This record gives sequence, structure tokens and C-alpha cells, in this order.
Amino acid sequence: MTAQYQVHGNVAVITLNNPPVNGLGLSTRQGIADGMASANADAAVTAIVITGAGKAFSGGADIKEFGSPKAGQEPNLNSVIAVLEASAKPVIAAMHTVAMGGGLELAMGCHYRVVAPGCSVALPEVKLGLLPGAGGTQRLPRLIGVEAALNMIVTGEAVKSEMLAMVPGQKLFDKVAASADTLAEEALAFARSVADVRPLPLVRNLPCKHPQGDAYFQFARNMVNGMSKNFPAPAKCVDAVQAATKKKFDDGMAVEREIFIALMATPESKSLRHIFLAERAASKIPDVPSDTPVREIKSIAVIGAGTMGGGIAMNFLNAGIPVKMLEMKQEALDRGIATIRKNYESQVKKGKLKQDKYDQRMSLLSTTLSYDDLAGTDMVIEAVFEEIGVKEAVFKELDRVMKPGAILASNTSTLDVDKIASFTKRPEDVVGLHFFSPANVMKLLEVVRGKKTAKDVMATVMVVAKKIKKIAVVSGVCDGFIGNRMVEQYGRQGGFLLDEGCTPAQVDKAIEKFGFAMGPFRMGDLAGNDIGWAIRKRRVVEQPDMKYSKTADLLCEKGRFGQKTGAGWYDYVAGKRDAIPNADVVKMIEDHRKALGITPRKISDEEIVQRLVYALVNEGARILEEGISSKASDIDMVYLMGYGFPIHRGGPMNYADQVGLFNVVQAMKRFAQNPLDDAKFWAPAPLLAKLAAEGKTFN
Ligand code: NAI
Repeated sequence: MTAQYQVHGNVAVITLNNPPVNGLGLSTRQGIADGMASANADAAVTAIVITGAGKAFSGGADIKEFGSPKAGQEPNLNSVIAVLEASAKPVIAAMHTVAMGGGLELAMGCHYRVVAPGCSVALPEVKLGLLPGAGGTQRLPRLIGVEAALNMIVTGEAVKSEMLAMVPGQKLFDKVAASADTLAEEALAFARSVADVRPLPLVRNLPCKHPQGDAYFQFARNMVNGMSKNFPAPAKCVDAVQAATKKKFDDGMAVEREIFIALMATPESKSLRHIFLAERAASKIPDVPSDTPVREIKSIAVIGAGTMGGGIAMNFLNAGIPVKMLEMKQEALDRGIATIRKNYESQVKKGKLKQDKYDQRMSLLSTTLSYDDLAGTDMVIEAVFEEIGVKEAVFKELDRVMKPGAILASNTSTLDVDKIASFTKRPEDVVGLHFFSPANVMKLLEVVRGKKTAKDVMATVMVVAKKIKKIAVVSGVCDGFIGNRMVEQYGRQGGFLLDEGCTPAQVDKAIEKFGFAMGPFRMGDLAGNDIGWAIRKRRVVEQPDMKYSKTADLLCEKGRFGQKTGAGWYDYVAGKRDAIPNADVVKMIEDHRKALGITPRKISDEEIVQRLVYALVNEGARILEEGISSKASDIDMVYLMGYGFPIHRGGPMNYADQVGLFNVVQAMKRFAQNPLDDAKFWAPAPLLAKLAAEGKTFN
């Protein structure tokens, strides 16, 4: 049973007990309803306390029920709250630690609330593109005032109970307990003190008004629209709270319900819920059981104090894990340390990092020029030059000095992790950890699983990733892993679009309108166009028949590598990131087109977006069928967290599912007819073709 019933003297106590956060799943809801029935039937009981066991009062909906029929099964949360309101005996919520979403709505359906200090209180449904659907939008404004309630509902952010207790005139908490330890005792005493009060107070009977009325809501709507352009839910939250001020309680509830159902059906909410589940799914590896023992990682070594090494080190320092950095020369170490210092100091200046925290982090950092000093560390991450010979020398040294059981990781972005593993006599301890630049900022981490990587190494690095607050996604070994392999196809389409008639600015604008943080050409300028150039030089040797646009090569021949040279597809002014279109680049594209004998055509934004996004989808499908990735949602996470794919579209694979795979395949067939494009690439991946034919989806 996930809710327990006990009687203490003449007070019944219903304790939610559904770890980890007492989610309000079906059996918990049923348990509350049963407890209420028992308490009301027992003449000796004069009051009822509802509280939560363990680490929460309640975190709200049970995510295990997400999308399952159980979620809506009776008694649903609204029915449970109706039972509380109808109780002939007072019901008191005793809240601590976490009271969120449905958990807070449950508490607001009680007659009284006693809270412990430090309780995180929130209605976070907006983060899933929804609004609270069990009276949250109608009851919270009655309890803490319209403005405070609307702020919480629109942002979904948690507020500590002691802060809420200070809101003037608040009625959310009838009593703040002295501490979490005394909450149970104080709630029981409070229950006894109100046992005889009649009529019982109901939140629904409280008034709900804003002194400025509609003018306030218009102001709120403008604010919200400005901040959440791709998401409908926040503005709908304003509508629901406004309804609380204008309508009778039950009519307001009906408005809330109607909006809730409409939001559930929006692609934006579906995408957000997909991401929520995808993030949790990413940490699970199908053939690595969750109880796989993990190795203890208490110290880290980083080889190479360059761009990536420094950023990687900061992740661990931030998490309180000591880092030893190794370089070949003292100057390189000094430079690396100076960069880390500069980074932290700018955070201190901006007030984002306290001086003592900064000192503490730097005290965890040490340096060395000798591999022998690394012998005691539990894990090493290599971030030296991207050359196989250099990697070989480094891994041979690591194999020589590292203790048995240490994890040997490489941050390589393009090299074969199996080959790197073969430089050691312990390939089972070798794994790829592909951080994204800047490594201390970007959330994504591709964990590259070699053929021989041990399962407990995989389990360990997934835990380590969580400790340093990364979203880790597992990739098999292939050229470019998941993200860069897909982005290459995306970039190739960008090139064809230029040849056929677009300008870089037109392509970038179209895809940015779709919601990407940055179009392919602005991204190229940021990352450095020389990187793609180097890859293409390799490709033309490996795949001499590969079709691609030479425009980017011409650009690089002019030395226009992007922001770092002040010029790329666009011009840049020092110290600014604005991309300024350049007439010479446009002329270069036109001349190249002429030389190829291509008559430019007008290309619609729709075609631009489809070609760029479906290129990702088709390559993603190949990655799935080759088993490089074990689930489509992992590919979505890579693109959302590492490549600026629009959040409201939920990642390329989720987006394709929403468009319908049949439609995606039809478009690909059309693109394959274009003689200037690559018909071979547009042949739908067999997995995609099969799913489309069966009317199925990736996710
Ligand atoms: P970098 O050139 O900034 O830094 C490399 C550092 O390694 C230099 O400080 C160099 O002195 C040091 N080094 C070279 N050989 C060494 C050796 N034998 N022993 C010890 N130190 C040595 O390069 P960056 O950009 O930090 O790249 C490092 C690795 O990370 C490469 O494998 C690269 O492919 C990968 N990577 C780079 C990304 C980026 O955006 N820059 C993104 C993801 C991965």
C-alpha cells in the first residue's frame, strides 16, 4: 500500500508512502480515499492529518504513470480532493520537504495546512507545457493572492515555505512548525485544536480579486507573451487565474479543466513531456542493469590543459572532486590554469560565485608534468591534440602508470575509441567521454561505448556524469558519434541550398524561425569553418564519390574561418557576436553557382527547414538501426542539449514523429528527385521506411 492509515489518540493520520517523492499514483490516491472513509466512519476519530513519509509531502503526479491509462483512473486527484472537501471532520495537511504540483493541490484541498520550514512549494506543471489541473489555478490565488500565485504558476519555480509564510495576508499555511522534526507532533496538536471548529473552512469559499482587475491581467499577459514565445501554456495560466477572479469557484474549475485538456493535446506540451521522460531514459542502458556495481571515483586526472581540458577540469572542481592536470610543458600548464582562474574570476565578478567557493575549487586543482604522479587517481580523461599518434603515446603511458581498475577516458571527437583502447592492455577500462565546448557550460556528454568497454565502466561514468550535472547519452563507436555524424548531413544540405539559390542569411533565418538557436552558417562561424574543412578533406579521400557543395571550401581558402578570424560566412566586429552579411561572400556563392551552370531558384523557408531537419532524421534513423544509439529519445537529447534544436519541438526524432513518418518519407522522395541534391542520401533509412509503412513512430 502506498498510503498508510493509523490512529493516534483521536486523530487519524494518512501517510503517503510512495518513494521517492510520494507521487500521487493510483494506489496512493486510492489509499487516501480509503483512509478518509475509515476516519469518517470511526466515531472515535475527530480530525485527520495527511502527511508524507520520507523525503517529501508529495512531489505530485507519479511519473511512472505518465501517459498510462492509470493516470486518469478513478479516484483521480480531483475526486480525492472532493472527498477531502466533503469530509465531516477537519483534514489537516502536514507538509514538509517537497509539496509540488498535485501534492500542493492536495494540500490546498484540505481544511488546514501546517508546514515545516524549508519545504519547497511549487506548481511546476507549466514546465511540461500544462497548467495545474486539480484546482491549483483556482485555489492558490485565493490563498496567497493573485500576483504571487500567478508568478508561481507561470514560472513553475519552487518557493520555500518560510518565504511564502511572509506573504502578507497569506492563508496557505495555518501554522509554520518550529522544525521538520517537530512537524508531526505540532500537526497532531493543531488537529486537536480545530477538531470542534464548524463550519469547516474551505479554500473554495475564499474571495479572489485583484485590485486592478483586467488591467493587471493584460499587463501580465504582455509580460508572459514576451518571455515564452514558443509555448502556449504560460499565457493560458494567466487566463485560468483570471477566471478565478471573475467566475464562481466551480465555473473557474471548469475553465481550468478545459484549458488543461487543450494544453495536453498541444505539440509543445507533448514535446516537453517527451523531453522530461527522455532525460530520465538517457541514463538507462538496456543491457547494463541498474544494480550494476559502480567503481568509486574520488579523484580525476586530466591530460592536456587546452580548451577542452580546462573546461572538463572545471566540471569536477565544481562538484568538489580533486583534479590533477598533466601537460608536457610547464608553460602549457600555466596557461591552462590561468584560463580556469579567469573563468572563475569572471563568475566571482558577476556575483555568480562566492570568493570562498572559488578558493575552495582552486585548492582542489593540482598540476604535474609526470605521468607517475597520476598513479593514484581513479579516472583519467585525455584531452590532447586530435591525432592518433599523440593519443597512442598518451594511452600507453596511462596504461603503464594507472592503478588497476582506473577508468581511462578519451575526449576525442572523431577518432576510433576501439583503436585508442587497443593501445592499452585493458581495453575494458577505456571509454569515450565526448564533452561539448565550452565543456564547463554545455550540458551534453556523449558517452562512447567501445566494443570492449566493461559494463561497470559504463555504469560508473553515467553516475559520474550525473555528479557533474551533465546529461549523458550513450553512443556506439562510429565517425562523429551521434551528434557530429548527424550535423555533417545537416551541413551538407546547407551547402546544396547555397548552390541552388539561397544566401547563408536566408538559410539561417528560416531555420532560426523554426526555433533553432542558430542556423548552420552562424554555427559554422562560431565553431570554426576550418573544422568542417578538415573533415571534408578526409572524406574526399575516404568517399571519393561523395556529393557535396564546394562553397565552404572556397570560403576557407579565403581564410574566412569564422568568428575567430573576424570573418566567415558573415563579418564580425571585435567584441560582438552579431553576424553581418558580407557582399563578397554572396558574390562568391553566385560565381560558384555560375561556374557550375546552375540557374538559381527561389527556395521556400518550408523547403529549407524540411531539408535541414529531415537530413538529421534520416541519419538519426541509420544511427538507430546500426545500434549506435539504443533509443530515438537519446538522439533527441543529443540534439536538444548539444546543438540548439528547438525545445518546443522535442528533438528531431520526436518532431518527425509529430509530423508523421509517412509525410517525412514522402518529402524525402521529393528531395531525391532534385538533380542538385544527393539522391543516395535521401533514400529513406530502412528503419524509417519500415516505421512509416507500418504507421508507427520512432519514440
Ligand atoms: P587544444 O589544442 O586546445 O588543447 C590540447 C592540449 O593538449 C594542449 O594544451 C597541448 O599542450 C596538450 N597536449 C598535446 N599533446 C600532449 C601530450 N602528449 N601530453 C600532454 N598534453 C598534451 O585542443 P582541444 O580543443 O582542447 O581538444 C582536445 C581534444 O578534445 C581533442 O581530442 C579534440 O578532438 C577534443 N574535442 C574538442 C572539442 C572542441 O570544440 N575544441 C569538442 C570536443 C572534443
